[in-house]
Amino acid sequence: MAKVYVIANQKGGIGKTTTATNLAGILSKRGKTLLIDADPQGNSSNTYEAQIENVATLYDVIIDSDKLPIKEAIQELPNGDIVASDPLLAKAEKMLDGDVEGFYRLKDALDELEGYDYVVIDTAPSLNVILYNCLIAAQRVIIPVTADNYALQGIDQLYSTIMAVKKRQNRDLSIAGLLLVKYSGRSNLDKTTRDEIESRAKDMGTKLFGTSIRECVKTKEAQEKHKLLIDYAPWCNTMVDYLNFAEELLAED
Ligand SMILES: Nc1ncnc2c1ncn2[C@@H]1O[C@H](COP(=O)(O)OP(=O)(O)OP(=O)(O)O)[C@@H](O)[C@H]1O
Ligand SMILES: [Mg+2]
Repeated sequence: MAKVYVIANQKGGIGKTTTATNLAGILSKRGKTLLIDADPQGNSSNTYEAQIENVATLYDVIIDSDKLPIKEAIQELPNGDIVASDPLLAKAEKMLDGDVEGFYRLKDALDELEGYDYVVIDTAPSLNVILYNCLIAAQRVIIPVTADNYALQGIDQLYSTIMAVKKRQNRDLSIAGLLLVKYSGRSNLDKTTRDEIESRAKDMGTKLFGTSIRECVKTKEAQEKHKLLIDYAPWCNTMVDYLNFAEELLAED
């Protein structure tokens, strides 16, 4: 069975996709890795240059009544293996409404997945039925946060959601940690915020990863060129930090 990591925070633009794609890139050097794009915006799919039209996507696997086996939705691309998103996923709430099994679609699909060591799931900035599907299918949640005044806004709601899923649907679920991303660390404000985040992580029964992810212009450049940072700029700050973060993550698992 693959180890399943979900990257979640319902705040937009915080660094989920950047974390998901970079982590998948790093893990794929160690074992067979699948990235699942569970965000209708499809940013991970875009970075991987995955097709979303006239191919099977996550929509066909978890929403469509035919429930296509997940292996038929995997695209093997230069950046790695991916199950692409579909804008139609935005309609999931309606489509799965009232279906008691609707929360378990992704778990069922991943139970059938063979040959993968790691699965990384990129999620949308919302607490919806797709996120529940991801949390029920995963073992570890990684929560990216930024060191600004609103860093921890909404985190309580995410935490309660994770705990509710853990209690009712997925006892194996735990929070791997909060990950400080887009970090400059230059100002005192940053440092104060870091301490605050650290203590909040403790309250949540988890930790703040020792590695913070610094910013680097190459990150955006790589995304625009549809490349993974590990190939495009392996020595930039952001990449070096993601590598150290991955070490930390794997050391405890
Ligand atoms: N370490 C970094 N250095 C520089 N820019 C970064 C870094 N991490 C993320 N960014 C930039 O921040 C923006 C938002 O990042 P990203 O798309 O990963 O966030 P997200 O949480 O997935 O957003 P959404 O909620 O819309 O899905 C992107 O333009 C990305 O290039
Ligand atoms: Mg994203």
